[in-house]
Amino acid sequence: MKDTAINVLKILEESPGPVSGERIAEQLGITRSAVWKQIRELRRLGYQISSSRAEGYRLETKTDRLFPYEINKMLRTRVIGRQIRHFDSTASTGWVAKKLAAESDPEKLHGMVIIAEEQTGGVGRLGRAWVSPAGGIWATILLKPSVPLDHLFMTTMAGSVAIARAIRKEYGISALIKWPNDIFIGDRKVAGLLLELAAEADTVHYALLGIGIDANVPLDELSSNLRDTVTTLQAEVGREVDRVALLARVLREFELRYQQLEDGEYDSIIREWKSLSRTLDNRVAIKTINKTFSGEAIDIDEHGALIIRKDNGKIERVIAGDCFQL
Ligand code: BTN
Repeated sequence: MKDTAINVLKILEESPGPVSGERIAEQLGITRSAVWKQIRELRRLGYQISSSRAEGYRLETKTDRLFPYEINKMLRTRVIGRQIRHFDSTASTGWVAKKLAAESDPEKLHGMVIIAEEQTGGVGRLGRAWVSPAGGIWATILLKPSVPLDHLFMTTMAGSVAIARAIRKEYGISALIKWPNDIFIGDRKVAGLLLELAAEADTVHYALLGIGIDANVPLDELSSNLRDTVTTLQAEVGREVDRVALLARVLREFELRYQQLEDGEYDSIIREWKSLSRTLDNRVAIKTINKTFSGEAIDIDEHGALIIRKDNGKIERVIAGDCFQL
């Protein structure tokens, strides 16, 4: 969104009633036809603005798009989301983040959030495709971690807790975490996270936390097999949700937990993760790259690994893989 459009928008937002084009033009030192052009642009961006010859323009409803200007108004963070890049459409926000990190100093990008209204090549865990049509929240948080390498995987735990908490606070829905990094409502997935690290030896250049939330994704845009296992917030809440408010809340909740990680308060995150887990104390089947087995999920350790008591009584630690509730 260009500055002139934002300036016109601000005048409309601040005015309790309609404002004439003449007044806006005067206030901004631009022509009335320039005002009209900006009104047209704002409408194109999803703002509903009524106009009457006698009274002027009035902002009826704001856009539901995830514009930095809108997010900023609601954001209660110090670092996370203080820099935002927004795209109408991109292949993957993770890919954009990698490009930005390669072109600049990741230190300066710490906390930046890259957002897309839709992704044409979204990537999920284990290299799977991630369906990302308009209506979802597709975002990547770029981090220059100061967390020790062996605890870095807890970033996904912090992110999972943040999304589950945000959904609970915004809608009063009991969202739970399924190991390793899925958010569930009932027995359907509503969100997923993906942590990618750019590291060599013991130096982490940057970390990317990808967040995908099926907020207002139309269910009929999902393939029939996804429709059996996935839900959307819109379907659960019974109305379109305010994606801007939710994302601002997720970023706030994430910042709080990421701060705990940086402060070495690993126990707090593990405790909170456990209290929100739908995996622990359940019988599960685990599928890793080289084997499949079942047992009881009894614990999670401080590296994010799931601890399984196998059917033969042996204890197994699983770092990566798929987990199916039995
Ligand atoms: C999963 O459950 O498999 C993780 C899904 C992560 C998807 C998000 S959407 C934003 C970011 N960009 C991507 O291409 N993937 C992540």
